[in-house]
Amino acid sequence: MLVDKNQPIKKMKLHPRNRNREKYNLSALVEVVPELTNYIVPNKAGEDSVDFSNPKAIRLLNQAIFHYYYDVKKWKFPVENLCPPIPGRADYIHYIADTLSESNFGKIPVGRNIKILDIGVGASCIYPLIGTTEYKWSFIASDISQQSIDSSKQIAGKNPSIEDKIEFRLQNSPNNIFKGILRQTEKIEAVICNPPFHPSSKEAEKVTRRKVKNLTGNRVNEIDLAGIHDELICDGGEYKFIKNMVKESEKISRKCLWFSSLVSKQSNLKAIQKLLQNTRVKRVKIIPMGTGNKSTRIIAWTYLSKEDQKNWRETRWKK
Ligand SMILES: C[S@@+](CC[C@H](N)C(=O)[O-])C[C@H]1O[C@@H](n2cnc3c(N)ncnc32)[C@H](O)[C@@H]1O
Repeated sequence: MLVDKNQPIKKMKLHPRNRNREKYNLSALVEVVPELTNYIVPNKAGEDSVDFSNPKAIRLLNQAIFHYYYDVKKWKFPVENLCPPIPGRADYIHYIADTLSESNFGKIPVGRNIKILDIGVGASCIYPLIGTTEYKWSFIASDISQQSIDSSKQIAGKNPSIEDKIEFRLQNSPNNIFKGILRQTEKIEAVICNPPFHPSSKEAEKVTRRKVKNLTGNRVNEIDLAGIHDELICDGGEYKFIKNMVKESEKISRKCLWFSSLVSKQSNLKAIQKLLQNTRVKRVKIIPMGTGNKSTRIIAWTYLSKEDQKNWRETRWKK
């Protein structure tokens, strides 16, 4: 196994191609989603900002960002579902694009021939929306929740330019990742995944309270913990989820160019690397990411040698 050594140790800035790198044009955002005006408050420095302690404000801000910066005009899903912040999700997509470019002489492969599997698309369809918009890729989007699939499907249906680029597939068993999702002869360029990361709802609540306190300076006892339910919680937390993923990935090692997952807890990283060491993996990459005061990372792995990657490029991308 080869672990890249010449990667940056810490990268607190967003990816250079991330549209969220610059300070937001708040007045433009308010113009596309006027309701956002009701949630503008002064931040610690006394400047106009969005009330990040309020889930409704965050949701409206993200709607506005999608509309103004990505031309995704319809992005609505049930309030009880997790509202993902766009900047970090966009970073993941850009780093996967960079990773794929390594098998293509540094050029990012674009277009619908490039198929990405999003494990756990959620109700917001966030990764497929960004990936189709940025690189015109096509997506297979899985989830164990029929409601989440329906919600994401509805979002895709309301945005005609992306609708035919996303295919939704229900995972019938929470213990399976690829089994039952990928078809016999199907190949995919990459797997992306933001796994449910908390092992219990108690821990999920604790982390959310800490997040709000960091953002606002206020201690929070009672809060509408939007997104705190099965979306964030799975038995064994993210470690067990990724462990299953690694195990299953070996069985379909030649069907996918790069497997990957977010690893939210730094403390899980070593154990995951160790799991990979015991497989036939050819290369592992750890990609650090950071937004604001949160740092996270992607772990990506491939079972394909340089020669296999060359064959992949020549058979799938030269059309
Ligand atoms: C943290 S949420 C991520 C949602 C969305 N991708 C995002 O980044 O905001 C994890 C998602 O994984 C789904 N999930 C849990 N187990 C799964 C499995 N075995 N296969 C596919 N999806 C699963 C959950 O239902 C949930 O929607």
